[in-house]
Amino acid sequence: MYGSETGTEDVERTAFRKAEKKYKLYYDNGRKKKQPRPVDLSEVLDFKSISERYAQNAELPAGISKLQCDFDRPVFCLESHPGFYFIPGALTIEEQCQWIKDSLTSFPQPPNRTNHNVIYGPIEDLFVSAKQGKVLVEEEPSHQRNGTDSNNDQSTATAPSWKFSDVQSFSSRGEACKSVPASVLLRKLRWSTLGLQFDWSKRSYNVSLPHNKIPDDLCQLSTKLATPAMPSGEDFQPEAAIVNYFGQGDMLGGHLDDMEKDWSKPIVSMSLGCKAIFLIGGNSREHTPLAMFLRSGDVILMAGAARECFHGVPRIFADKEHAEISELELQFSDEDDSFLEYVRTSRVNINIRQVF
Ligand code: SIN
Repeated sequence: MYGSETGTEDVERTAFRKAEKKYKLYYDNGRKKKQPRPVDLSEVLDFKSISERYAQNAELPAGISKLQCDFDRPVFCLESHPGFYFIPGALTIEEQCQWIKDSLTSFPQPPNRTNHNVIYGPIEDLFVSAKQGKVLVEEEPSHQRNGTDSNNDQSTATAPSWKFSDVQSFSSRGEACKSVPASVLLRKLRWSTLGLQFDWSKRSYNVSLPHNKIPDDLCQLSTKLATPAMPSGEDFQPEAAIVNYFGQGDMLGGHLDDMEKDWSKPIVSMSLGCKAIFLIGGNSREHTPLAMFLRSGDVILMAGAARECFHGVPRIFADKEHAEISELELQFSDEDDSFLEYVRTSRVNINIRQVF
C-alpha cells in the first residue's frame, strides 16, 4: 500500500498510472487564482444512479449484476471483477458521523500507530490538541538540560520526545525547540491502524507490536457488511483495520492488499466524507482500471480474485459542488465545529480485514 509505491519509470508508463493521472487533481494557473483542471468524468461508474435506476425499472448496465442474497440493501457486482461487491449507501448518516468522529478521536490514539509515529513517536489526543491550537514541541533530552551532553555519553542519550504545549518552548540555551502545530499534524494524518498493527516497511503484520482489539461496534458492523462476500457457513473475524485519511489533493496510489492469509475473506471498506474516485484494475498495473465514485456511506467488499487486483484512490472532491456531503454537514452542524471543518475538505476510509 503506502510502502508499495516505487515511483519507477516502468510504473509511470502503466495503464493504471495513466488512469491515476487522468483523474488526479491538477491545478491550472488562472489569471486570478489557480483553478482545478477540468476532468472528464463520463467514464466513471456511478453506483448511486445505477442503484436508483435499478429501483425504478430493475434494469442494470451491461457488466453489472445484482447479487442474489438476503442482505438488507442491494449489493452490486462487477462481472469483470469476480469477488468485488459495491453496496451503495450502506451506512446511515448517523453511522457515518459516528465513524468519522471515532476515526479522528479514538482510532489514532496509542497503541494504535499512525504515519506520525516514525517521526514523533506515539501522539495522544491529536484532534483535541488541534482544536485547542496546541503545538507539538520536541522536549530537550534531560542530559542536554543538565549540560551533560558535552561528554558525548551515548549510554545516557535518549530518543527525543514530543509533547503538546500551549506555547512554543525554548531550550536551556534559549533556542526555540523544534515544534509543529497540531492542526498541521491533523492535516497530515494519512493513516492509523487498529487491531493487529501493520508494519509498512516490511509490508507485513507485526503481531509483537502492542495493540488493542478492534472495537466491538466496528467488529459487529464489519461482520454484518462482510456477509455478501463470505464463503457460505463461515464468519468474518475482524482482526485489523487501516483508517486512511484524505485531504484535498491527496491520493492513494495503486496497490494490492495481499498480506492477509486467506483471500477468500473480504476486505470491508467503508467510505466517509467527501466523494472520491476509486480505481480497480487487474492483477498487474498494465490492466486499464475501471473508475467509480465512492460517496460517504458506500461500502465495497473485495474478496477472492478481486483481492489480486490493483486498486487505489486518485482523487477526492473537496469542493462544495462535487463533495456531496450536505447531509453530513447538516448532521454535524449540531456538533462541535471542528468535525464540520474537517469533513468539509476530507475523506476517511476504514477498511477492515481478517488477517489469519
Ligand atoms: C484502500 O484501498 O486501501 C483504500 C481504498 C479507499 O480509500 O476507498
